[in-house]
Amino acid sequence: MSGDGPLLRVTGLEAAYGRARVLFGVDVEVGAGRLVCVMGRNGVGKTTLLNAVMGVLPPTGGTVVFDGEDVTRLPTHERVRRGMGYVPQGHETFPQLTVADNLRVTLEATRHRDAAAIDEALEVFPRLKQFLGRRAGFLSGGQQQQLAMARALVTRPRLLILDEPTEGIQPSIVAEIEEAIERLHRERGLAVLLVEQYLELAERLADSFVIIEAGVVRRAGGADDLRDDEVKRLLAV
Ligand SMILES: Nc1ncnc2c1ncn2[C@@H]1O[C@H](COP(=O)(O)OP(=O)(O)OP(=O)(O)O)[C@@H](O)[C@H]1O
Ligand SMILES: [Mg+2]
Repeated sequence: MSGDGPLLRVTGLEAAYGRARVLFGVDVEVGAGRLVCVMGRNGVGKTTLLNAVMGVLPPTGGTVVFDGEDVTRLPTHERVRRGMGYVPQGHETFPQLTVADNLRVTLEATRHRDAAAIDEALEVFPRLKQFLGRRAGFLSGGQQQQLAMARALVTRPRLLILDEPTEGIQPSIVAEIEEAIERLHRERGLAVLLVEQYLELAERLADSFVIIEAGVVRRAGGADDLRDDEVKRLLAV
């Protein structure tokens, strides 16, 4: 649609909860096929940024442009329809529904309604295939995270927005999730906006990064700059 320019361009984004302002003019761009990491300590506004980008929390200022179109005022489902896939922090699924039904209800909400999208998503997370008849609420945290990501993939996004997909998840599944992100990015050319607190994982995956502190971008750069002492200081607890 847009031709030139990044797939996602966030400019001067501001957000607040009532009177409590949280974001004070955040800029971040994700080029087509790029993987950008959003980092920063607990409570700096990473989730708020993603929620504002997706319209879950309507921004109080700034703009969100996706594929050349200003989507700042669009409802979340319209952004999803345009190709913005979102996996919120804490792996949201429908706990009462089976894995298969979680994927089916997501498919029904898409514009394309192509059932092949479910198989494509399961190819990325083959572990889920053995649990198709199980209720999502009975999966482990790591399996639920995989299901939440698979649901986002069923919408066939061009940009996948992930909020700490490895948080609190057993190490064996963290490796699978990292591998899945890497494959989606490198093999399928999916653009990714990833909130991630683990520096080593960010170093392996990211093309570029931004570090948020107190609701502003304190530092931005390419993957190599992640090895800086300044970066370690900004992320140290
Ligand atoms: N629903 C809410 N109502 C009021 N304040 C909130 C709400 N959600 C978050 N906040 C506050 O906004 C600030 C930013 O929170 P946010 O969840 O965006 O941080 P974060 O960087 O994602 O943190 P974490 O690494 O713990 O996930 C914090 O001070 C938090 O207490
Ligand atoms: Mg968060």
